[in-house]
Amino acid sequence: MLGFIGGTGPEGKGLALRFAISGLSVFIGSREKQRGIEAAQEIRSQFTEIGSDMVAGGTNEEAAIASDIAVICTPYAGHKATLENLKHVLNGKIVVDVVAPLSFEKGSASAITVEEGSAAEQAQSLLPDSLVVGAFQNASAEDLLMPSQDMECDVIVCSNDQSAKEQVMLLGERIPGVRSIDGGNLQNAKYVEQLTALLININKIYKAHSSIKIVGI
Ligand SMILES: NC(=O)c1ccc[n+]([C@@H]2O[C@H](COP(=O)([O-])OP(=O)(O)OC[C@H]3O[C@@H](n4cnc5c(N)ncnc54)[C@H](OP(=O)(O)O)[C@@H]3O)[C@@H](O)[C@H]2O)c1
Repeated sequence: MLGFIGGTGPEGKGLALRFAISGLSVFIGSREKQRGIEAAQEIRSQFTEIGSDMVAGGTNEEAAIASDIAVICTPYAGHKATLENLKHVLNGKIVVDVVAPLSFEKGSASAITVEEGSAAEQAQSLLPDSLVVGAFQNASAEDLLMPSQDMECDVIVCSNDQSAKEQVMLLGERIPGVRSIDGGNLQNAKYVEQLTALLININKIYKAHSSIKIVGI
């Protein structure tokens, strides 16, 4: 089971949708149980090819408890407090951090400086007994929410735990059009997170959904 913490937003719903279509059970978590239930219902009703028992919803804590792998999809503003609250139920689990710490001014995105280096490193320091993996920070929610189209992107996966990283790399490639790239350890997650600001600013210029592809490997 994949549990989506803050899963009611476009990124969490988009990833949950893609993984449910790939045959995995997903749980949409929210700060409000009813919002999680409604987001799960919305996915089930819009995409009837997904089995009705594949998508559940409820609180973030229920999502974390139910999950083998938890995916953190809150805004950066809620990242620290959310992880502190859920630490006890995330111990021993793989925690995938999708968060790109950004601020917006006059429609332009900038990366926020994170004391620990990156959101993913902040997560690992808050959750020392979890296996934190940074991934999907550059994957467009709008593209994820259009499952009739393959994604066209690389997902750079960073972790200090090789086995957790390999599991998340395999997970990413369940989404058609995604290639997973080994991004090394969590020290590299900041570059991946910061790239999201550039992609958003490029999207504005080209009125498009840009993504990244690594060449030469
Ligand atoms: N959108 C994209 O295209 C995209 C692409 C790559 C990466 N990301 C990253 O993915 C994450 C989620 O993106 P999103 O666009 O889905 O975000 P969002 O819609 O702003 O937030 C996702 C969910 O987080 C919960 N939330 C909001 N404020 C919170 C807080 N202060 N504390 C705890 N939970 C809070 C809300 O759920 P409830 O109210 O139901 O609790 C909300 O539905 C972000 O960190 C973003 O950087 C997004």
